[in-house]
Amino acid sequence: MAARLNVKAIVFDLYGTLVNISALNGRCGEVYANGEEFCALWRAKQIEYSFMSSLMGRYHNFLNLTERALDYTAERFGVKLDAQQRKRLLNGWVEPTAYPEVASVLPKLAEKYSLVVLSNGAPRMLETGLKATGIRTHFRWILSAQSAKIYKPSPRIYQLATQKTRLPKNRILFVSSNSFDVLGSKSFGFKVCWVNRGKAQLDPLGFNPDLTVTDLAEMARSLGVKSA
Ligand code: LAC
Repeated sequence: MAARLNVKAIVFDLYGTLVNISALNGRCGEVYANGEEFCALWRAKQIEYSFMSSLMGRYHNFLNLTERALDYTAERFGVKLDAQQRKRLLNGWVEPTAYPEVASVLPKLAEKYSLVVLSNGAPRMLETGLKATGIRTHFRWILSAQSAKIYKPSPRIYQLATQKTRLPKNRILFVSSNSFDVLGSKSFGFKVCWVNRGKAQLDPLGFNPDLTVTDLAEMARSLGVKSA
């Protein structure tokens, strides 16, 4: 598999791929009985607002969209958030929790590939979040949608990675857990790895990943990199 993919850089999505959005379920459960349901709607609205803002040509910072999505979700569930609860929920995005295998796999991958993060997250969210999880040092570049003022899956976002690494699309492996990001990055022309941790369904829009794994340790093995 390693030889077949023949890539020089690995570009990672952040939310849901390196860090666990479900870790927010607990915080959401502090304000609404079904924390999982609250968190799922919050994330869905956050992504929907990023699509809407891109299509309207009106870029808003990702933390701002995340807050608007929180407003919608709280209203939908009839929850009145005080300033402290709001701050604690939003901080979940600023200081996220990495998936358990990430910290041990990244340094091994970094021995062989240039590692990059390419995320919708605003630059401050990305820097703070990656430092909080202790994985910042493994990445050569941290790229934010804010530089292109549009969100995934616009080709203008994926282009940030080809511009920065100066590599052709097919020498880059793009790694994401999000179906829209898998399709968008494949449509752009990257080699793509789908991290499908929870038996999610891929949207049937004509693009499929080159590799599907359940976590990053399995991806490293597929690339011929020993991570344990
Ligand atoms: C990101 C979102 C899509 O990190 O998860 O870009």
